[in-house]
Amino acid sequence: MRDNTKKGSCNGRPAPTFSNGLNPNGGFPKGKRIHKTFNNLKITLLCGLITILVLRGTLGLGGFGGSSQDPDEMPQDAKERNLMEVKDGDVEEEEEEIEFERELNDTYSIGPRIFDWDDQRRAWLIENPELANSSNGKPRILLVTGSPPKSCDNPAGDHYLLKSIKNKIDYCRIHNIEIFYNLAHLDAELSGYWSKLPLIRKLMLTHPEFEWIWWMDSDAMFTDMVFELPLEKYKHFNFILHGWEKEIYEKISWVGLNTGSLLLRNCQWSLDLIDAWAPMGPKGKVREEAGKVLTEALLGRPAFEADDQSALIYLLITQRNLWGNKVYLENSFYLHGFWVAIVETYDELIDKHHPGYGDERWPFITHFVGCKPCGSYGDYSIEKCLKEMERSFNFGDNQILQMYGFQHRTLSSFKVERTSNDSDQPLEIQDELNLLHPTFNLFKSVPV
Ligand SMILES: *[C@@H]1O[C@H](CO)[C@@H](O)[C@H](O)[C@H]1NC(C)=O
Ligand SMILES: *[C@@H]1O[C@H](CO)[C@@H](O)[C@H](O)[C@H]1NC(C)=O
Ligand SMILES: *[C@@H]1O[C@H](CO)[C@@H](O)[C@H](O)[C@H]1NC(C)=O
Repeated sequence: MRDNTKKGSCNGRPAPTFSNGLNPNGGFPKGKRIHKTFNNLKITLLCGLITILVLRGTLGLGGFGGSSQDPDEMPQDAKERNLMEVKDGDVEEEEEEIEFERELNDTYSIGPRIFDWDDQRRAWLIENPELANSSNGKPRILLVTGSPPKSCDNPAGDHYLLKSIKNKIDYCRIHNIEIFYNLAHLDAELSGYWSKLPLIRKLMLTHPEFEWIWWMDSDAMFTDMVFELPLEKYKHFNFILHGWEKEIYEKISWVGLNTGSLLLRNCQWSLDLIDAWAPMGPKGKVREEAGKVLTEALLGRPAFEADDQSALIYLLITQRNLWGNKVYLENSFYLHGFWVAIVETYDELIDKHHPGYGDERWPFITHFVGCKPCGSYGDYSIEKCLKEMERSFNFGDNQILQMYGFQHRTLSSFKVERTSNDSDQPLEIQDELNLLHPTFNLFKSVPV
């Protein structure tokens, strides 16, 4: 058996400090009390309006370069792109449902502080060997995604949420990854793009059998059904995101990484990280004030309330010594790929390459940053977004359909055509990509 002592890499975890100006409970130390009698609804509406104005002010700015493998090719003028990234929070902000305003010195906690999760989890895994966190050395993964509890403003949005989850179900079935789809607001304060934090934490604590929690935004789709995460490479790391070290630590760019597709190891380090990450999240004054700190600190960040992505970058640059060595910034393949740069290449890719690369030759994940098919405002026209989401879905879906002898007539068409005739020896027909009974899926195919 392999030596697992180095796995998990949760030893020597840092005791989080809160040198980012926030106290551990999320309040600002010198915050002013806002009088209780303030009409919360008014503040709420005002904040909502400001948010809408900020977001509105950036509409129609599309047409810039995409997320490239090479940091030097990243758009220097990140301003426009930035706005896209902001709004890819998975669960829509529901301004009209804000029920309270957090006061600056209120305390917020994402849950009881846990100090010995690694021990608790290890003991549980020993007691429940049938629920091992790995099989044949392959760690168990839970893919987590979700969408707003209410129907989309645009019915087409709901239709694409369905396509998006079908796409994830297909990938996960092939690669033996389990899925959790969230439709509930678990934490009223960590809403919008922050909602992934309480959800990930809850799932870690309730499912010790999963070694990794993989968050994926609902507007991201698998476009390479063959590619597998190089988990072996991450064995000494706890947090995997698409990003570039130079962009974060040197340029301090607020798009140096993307939180739309990330993996967190189920361990104490990750709980500590979430504790340190969450304080800027609580809706209302705290998030507004933290937004100013982030805009001040991060290159290219427009003025708006604190978002999870900026807060994470801020945490990394201010406390690199605490967290940096366990964060893997992946850019050798598209753990997240900016759709604008990708969708135009599909036809060429089909001619030149085949699935399995995960990089620019066959992008692993295409992420519709800046499209809000389920919301009311996005950075791109809804028509453009829906058209390209359809093409991306079909691009991925062709790799599924080929197993059954079909393909989409064109990338833009939901109609399908046969690629082979049915046979009276059905088992002899081999799917080209070997996805029906993939040998790369050790977890499933190697007998125990
Ligand atoms: C499973 O969890 C244990 C306990 O945390 C850890 O030591 C081990 O490395 C994990 N297995 C894998 C495959 O990650
Ligand atoms: C906030 O601070 C003020 C002044 O220090 C104090 O009177 C008030 O009780 C505090 N509010 C909360 C909710 O702690
Ligand atoms: C299916 O069989 C028909 C009749 O034999 C043949 O003309 C057609 O080319 C076949 N289609 C495919 C996709 O192989």
